[in-house]
Amino acid sequence: MKKILSQLFNRAIIQAFGDDFATVDPLIQRSQRAEFGDFQANFAMRLAKQLGMKPIEVAKVVVQKLNDPLVLKCEPSGPGFINIFLNDEALASLLPAMNNARLGVEITHQPETVVVDYANANVAKEMHVGHLRSIVIGDAIVRILEFLGHHVIRQSHLGDFGTQFGMLIEYLLDQGKDPTTYSVSDLDPLYKKSKEQFDLSDEFKERARNRVVALQQGDEKTLAIWQMLVKNSLQYFQQIYDKLDVLITEQDARGESFYNFMLKDVVDELMRLGIAHEDEGAIVVALDEWQDETGKPLVNIIRKRDGGYLYATTDLATAKFRMNELNATRIIYLTDARQKQHFAMLFATIKKAGWMPEGVRFEHIPFGAILGPDNKPFKTRSGESIKLIELLHEAERRAQTIAKNKNPQLSEDDIKHIAHCIGIGALKYADLRADKIKDYVFDWDKLLSFEGNTAPYLQNAYVRIASLFRKASLDVESYQHHHLTICNVYEHQLALQLLSFDDVLYAVSDNLSLHSLCDYLYDLASLYHRFYEECPILTSDDETRCSRLLFSALTAQTLKLGLSLLGIGTIERM
Ligand code: ARG
Repeated sequence: MKKILSQLFNRAIIQAFGDDFATVDPLIQRSQRAEFGDFQANFAMRLAKQLGMKPIEVAKVVVQKLNDPLVLKCEPSGPGFINIFLNDEALASLLPAMNNARLGVEITHQPETVVVDYANANVAKEMHVGHLRSIVIGDAIVRILEFLGHHVIRQSHLGDFGTQFGMLIEYLLDQGKDPTTYSVSDLDPLYKKSKEQFDLSDEFKERARNRVVALQQGDEKTLAIWQMLVKNSLQYFQQIYDKLDVLITEQDARGESFYNFMLKDVVDELMRLGIAHEDEGAIVVALDEWQDETGKPLVNIIRKRDGGYLYATTDLATAKFRMNELNATRIIYLTDARQKQHFAMLFATIKKAGWMPEGVRFEHIPFGAILGPDNKPFKTRSGESIKLIELLHEAERRAQTIAKNKNPQLSEDDIKHIAHCIGIGALKYADLRADKIKDYVFDWDKLLSFEGNTAPYLQNAYVRIASLFRKASLDVESYQHHHLTICNVYEHQLALQLLSFDDVLYAVSDNLSLHSLCDYLYDLASLYHRFYEECPILTSDDETRCSRLLFSALTAQTLKLGLSLLGIGTIERM
């Protein structure tokens, strides 16, 4: 819709003021209130400055040039807004064309290669609830960008290297058991114990350090144990990915260790460019934009005094690899907000080094924490972090109880399927609809509720439409009808919402604000419920019935596609 209206206004602006104004953005927006029309165009204020006119005069001149059947009327209002009211007949004629697999959403004209860096777990460690957001938000971003026609490369930047592996391997060897027999759940506590040992015993510290060197130098025995740790962990993560129905797989893992071969060159090059310098034996990058409490520029260490490299060094190499080898022009990182400064400094260094070609975008999407009912980080009763796999099982268990209560007649298999879809869907949706930057409070009852802005509410709206079609012995997915009429305000609102799907997806692909897709789907379901209550469908005359069935089919398909782009499934009945 925005594109169509933008084109109409662009033409009118050119007619009013000439070709010099061909690139003015008409700033089309959905109106917040019905009295302001369906859309608003807000360009007049900005354009008035350039023209030396009053905004309201600019608005009036442009409106006079506007002449298209889609626009019923345009009213300049206030200081220079233009309220746009659309014509029902013209609006209705746009809907049947949407009735296809893409629901009228165009493929992008500017496809990019996008790297999405998410699901960043650490080898030999459990995934806990803190890993949920990165996986869920990352998965939705990947799906939306792919749907719009971008080439998306998924990357999980596994923590698979560093001193901690020296400690862990040495500790495992001390246990005298075959190190290949440990599972990730076994390893998690041993990881902590090896760290305790490291802090306690100088003798162990020494051995752990030697073990890191052995690992770096490719000692056969050490390498074999490390490889086993990586393999076991990846298999374990895959179980979680499967349970979550996310696209990322073991194949998308490119751990920190992969970039080792580049680290020396990265540091040398930054030295050569004069961006890095030596500081008490370490190599650091000083960035004037950041200062410590005393006002001294903050430095980013990229090589320690003992010659070891750091997280930041690896990320510099990773960024180069993604630009130069993967040919990415957009690189999106998803981590919690604590890494904000790390990424800001990383991007600044890359820019300063001149490594970032024109048109390449780096984006860090920081997100907030998941809080428990006490408003503190979500933990078990005894204060431990919650294992992600256990959270997923609990979601399914709770959804199973709900599904059974709702319909005791369902078969065991159906209940399982429904519980998975609703439980996991609810968990993901709660995460996606929260403004990603903010913390949010985790609440089972709220997220699994069939009322309010939740996945079960949207899934239920789909079920309602699917059962309407079953009642009419028709198929909601393949329903065809070529004529639609808008007879009342409910249909008018629903039509506008359906036609805005494309706008929302393109906005999300740009600003990565997934909650706006959630809100869009919620509004769509709510508008449909109103329509359903106010407009009889199956009992209406033939023409009206077909038209309203088309409204219903398009709503169901939009809900299904929209949810699937968030990584959430729909069910036919419950
Ligand atoms: N593995 C890191 C962690 O657990 C996150 C990695 C994020 N990605 C990156 N390229 N630094 O905190």
